[in-house]
Amino acid sequence: MTESNVNKIKNSFLKDAENVKDLKSLEQVRVKYLGRKGELTAILRSLKNLPIQERRRVAPKAQQLKKELEETITKKQKELSTFNFQHSVLSIDVTKPGHKIKIGHIHPLSKIEEEIRHVFLSMNFSVVEGPEIENEYYNFDALNIPKDHPARDGWNTFWLKAQTDAEQTQRAAEKIPRNSASSPRKSALLLRTHTSPMQIHYMKNHQPPFQIIVPGRVFRYEATDASHETTFSQMEGLMVGKDVSLANFKFIIEHFLKKLFGSEIEFELRPSYYPFTEPSVDVYMKWRGKWLEVAGAGMVHPKVFEAVGYNPYEWQGFAFGFGLNRLAMIKYKIPDIRLFYNGDLRFIRQF
Ligand code: FA5
Repeated sequence: MTESNVNKIKNSFLKDAENVKDLKSLEQVRVKYLGRKGELTAILRSLKNLPIQERRRVAPKAQQLKKELEETITKKQKELSTFNFQHSVLSIDVTKPGHKIKIGHIHPLSKIEEEIRHVFLSMNFSVVEGPEIENEYYNFDALNIPKDHPARDGWNTFWLKAQTDAEQTQRAAEKIPRNSASSPRKSALLLRTHTSPMQIHYMKNHQPPFQIIVPGRVFRYEATDASHETTFSQMEGLMVGKDVSLANFKFIIEHFLKKLFGSEIEFELRPSYYPFTEPSVDVYMKWRGKWLEVAGAGMVHPKVFEAVGYNPYEWQGFAFGFGLNRLAMIKYKIPDIRLFYNGDLRFIRQF
């Protein structure tokens, strides 16, 4: 180990350092000389083996070189970082279009619901909402659909309270349909099959005259196809007062549909049957060239008024229940109701 070794290392380091173009190769140079197995490190380690005279001469030179190398590396590091920063700033093209920021999107059902709310608010209706979990009394009995009434079959129901094992076995053996009311349980819980139970809630707590709409999700235990879902949205309407007639209903509905679809709409009222209205009608509109039922409606049945404590000789009213998915399908030309809840963003982004 001699002075010339130290000088050799110095020269070779300076050459290497000169060629360094980026931080990565600078690090390689640092490791080559100052790393654990670096050339200068090896010299520093071997100093202790030198005779004392030699060590006194070489050691300060080696230490001095270590200091120089470290300083040079730190200086280079600073230069290269500044260069990188300037380089990246200069390479920004301010004329390039920016990155698109992804934001949420209004669902078509929310959109149509909002539009419908506005139309009815402009006709002095109030908007109220109710629970998705109901009991048998509000969903059926108070609406003049007593237990064992065949009309209950029209609303295939998701019942919520688990039956006992014995009850389930007995029902299965006797092939009793799920929505049959032969269960001894009083007012069992269910997912509401329509928004009509809100008629009862509202009338029990308010005195006429009034007019309300009730948007909300409803649930049915049934097979799906292009126009039937197990979860869908309805918009209930109820207007009660003195001398309210079916003609008033027709006027309001026509105004509503024209506001929503434009004045060129085609719709039909057809006679129908609901236990809670008399007479009853269905509203049909054209969808993909065919007539599609979009609402059930009618004059509130006297039995319903009796259930809420109104005098049916004093008050009249009409009620309706629109399927919001179907209205949206007609308005936005949606070919299949199952698209609403399948979570495909390509569908949602079109609205
Ligand atoms: C009812 O639910 C009644 N509550 C409507 C009513 C209210 C009548 C007030 C009289 C007075 P219906 O089961 O027909 O009736 O359903 C009403 C509307 O909901 C239908 O016209 C249709 O537009 C929509 N609908 C019914 N079943 C489904 C389904 N499985 N998928 C999508 N929409 C449906």
